[in-house]
Amino acid sequence: MAILSPSILTADFSDLSDTLAMFEDSAAVGLLHLDVMDGNFVPNISFGPPVIRSLSAKTSLPFDIHLMVSEPDRFVEDYVTDHTKYIVVHQEANLHLDRTLQHIRSLGVGCGVALNPATAPESLRYVLEKADQVLVMSVNPGFGGQRFLPSALSKIRWLLEERARGGYGYKIAVDGGVNEENIVQICRAGADIIVMGSAILNRPDPRAALAGFAGLIAENGEGGAAQ
Ligand code: DX5
Ligand code: ZN
Repeated sequence: MAILSPSILTADFSDLSDTLAMFEDSAAVGLLHLDVMDGNFVPNISFGPPVIRSLSAKTSLPFDIHLMVSEPDRFVEDYVTDHTKYIVVHQEANLHLDRTLQHIRSLGVGCGVALNPATAPESLRYVLEKADQVLVMSVNPGFGGQRFLPSALSKIRWLLEERARGGYGYKIAVDGGVNEENIVQICRAGADIIVMGSAILNRPDPRAALAGFAGLIAENGEGGAAQ
């Protein structure tokens, strides 16, 4: 069954306790997605290791850390906390992706690789066996609240087929612009991890929105297995 990895990017950073409690109360939420932006790889700055370390004392959710930073290999150690489940780096930000993925795994956490909308999944062919997560960006990274790009669906399907063909173990994640118009298609395409920010947090009743998405995942979230 697919799980939700909600992003706090559009939350009120000065008052996260209600938001974290809401995510913890939902059986559909399996990860907390943390968007790190450096103002260089993407045209925005969010937060970094001190904030993430503080969050680890405030929640029991495992962290899914999305590094939208240039040269991530220099910084990955800083993101290892007792909550870190995945550290995800961008294919486009890495000169030596194979080495960075091995570096992350050597720290005892799962390694992930993210793909910008313009990047083909085939570019990962020679590292797929070393990845614990492949994150398909369905918006150009940098901001919450953007429109979903449907090209992500064909990438998810390719990753699903390739995983079966090669016997690989990576989870397939999707990030950006997910809402009630596209979540069923995303589930049916085969996503295992669904990142959502504004479609939960920027609604008048976030708990009701989250419950609605949890229901849609329960009905459709068998992904590739159901096809
Ligand atoms: C975009 C981030 C996303 C984003 C998701 O650069 O990686 O995680 O916050 O937010 P929504 O769901 O609002 O697109
Ligand atoms: Zn993200």
